[in-house]
Amino acid sequence: MTLTDDLLKWRLEFPILGNTVYLISHSLGAMPRETFSRLTDYAETWATRGVRAWAEGWWDMPVTVGNEVARIIGAGPGNVVMHQNVSICQSLILSCFEPTPKRNKIVYSELNFPSVMYVYEAHARDGRLRIETVKSDDGITIPLERFLEAIDEETLLVPFSHVLFKSGFLQNAKAITERAHEVGARVILDTYQSAGTVPFSVKELNVDFATGGSVKWLCGGPGAGYLYVRPDLQQQLQPKTTGWMAHEAPFAFDTELRYAPGIARFLHGSPAIPALYAAQSGYRIINEIGVDRIREKSVRQTTRLIEMAYEAGFRVTSPKDAADRGGTVTVGHEGAAAITRELIRREFIVDFRPGAGVRISPHFYTSDEELELVVREMKDIRDTRAYAVHETAGAAF
Ligand SMILES: Cc1ncc(COP(=O)(O)O)c(C=O)c1O
Repeated sequence: MTLTDDLLKWRLEFPILGNTVYLISHSLGAMPRETFSRLTDYAETWATRGVRAWAEGWWDMPVTVGNEVARIIGAGPGNVVMHQNVSICQSLILSCFEPTPKRNKIVYSELNFPSVMYVYEAHARDGRLRIETVKSDDGITIPLERFLEAIDEETLLVPFSHVLFKSGFLQNAKAITERAHEVGARVILDTYQSAGTVPFSVKELNVDFATGGSVKWLCGGPGAGYLYVRPDLQQQLQPKTTGWMAHEAPFAFDTELRYAPGIARFLHGSPAIPALYAAQSGYRIINEIGVDRIREKSVRQTTRLIEMAYEAGFRVTSPKDAADRGGTVTVGHEGAAAITRELIRREFIVDFRPGAGVRISPHFYTSDEELELVVREMKDIRDTRAYAVHETAGAAF
């Protein structure tokens, strides 16, 4: 393999790159080798320190690990806490608000991540919230003007994705946040598909909340979701989804809740410690490289991938302009689901989403050669109709 850029030196740190062409960091980023030893550290600590481990770091981990994520998303220390996933963070944020007859609208797009929609939909069942869903014309993008128009004086919250999971479309978070603030609404930016591949700062964007997870571009594995709350809002909010970690004196075991000052009030019960250990190696690597460098490489590689897909006679469904997309390229074909199955069988790890096609994501550890190989393989599978055996396929994961 020829070394085409210095980020390729990180390849050795990711065991799965040795035996697959791994192009699925929009779904499950590759595991850093160091995660083996972090999980051993966890077990060692539990085995040797026992219950003392809580006072020796475990109890504070949702905040200390949150500080590592904060550096990636441009937040200050003490403004991010760790949770299990985005869905619980959305519920927790919603539980801070009381809809009124005059301000009860939730605005999001139909291309939002479905799990996020389920949270609002379920809460809207009692009739106290209304949901306005902004439509897409092409299933790939959301017209900004249409989104902005839907946000009005009756809007309470705008939970939206920075990068759309299906197509990789990068939304204008600044414009949406400004519009929401103009009318007194709050925004919740879902940064799951942007953090670690698109540089941004929650502080500069001035979002009220941000949430994401570590499974994808952060290479941190499952169970390590994060929640950012704008510092000036923290003191004003009292989440109803709560627990003893949100208490100002949890070990006083008071029978009444008094919220902790600052970000700890956005915690609930005991944290998922092993997941936090597992996630740290990914954050360390992303912070060491820096998201600007990752994005620079990603733009170069996704641009090249789009060119090669066109040259091979495929339809590219994700945005063509690099400024409009995150780290993923989607390739359409009527047999895309079946082509995906055959690619996976041949150790090219990608996935398929209806309406978009084969999702392919180079990350900082991807070589140019791997991109050439995947396009060549897709072409071969199409031209030989090797995908026909999988023709009833849907999404595999
Ligand atoms: C944009 C976006 N939000 C949220 C999620 C996942 O949500 P959760 O952390 O609740 O599983 C995904 C995962 O695919 C996603 O792409």
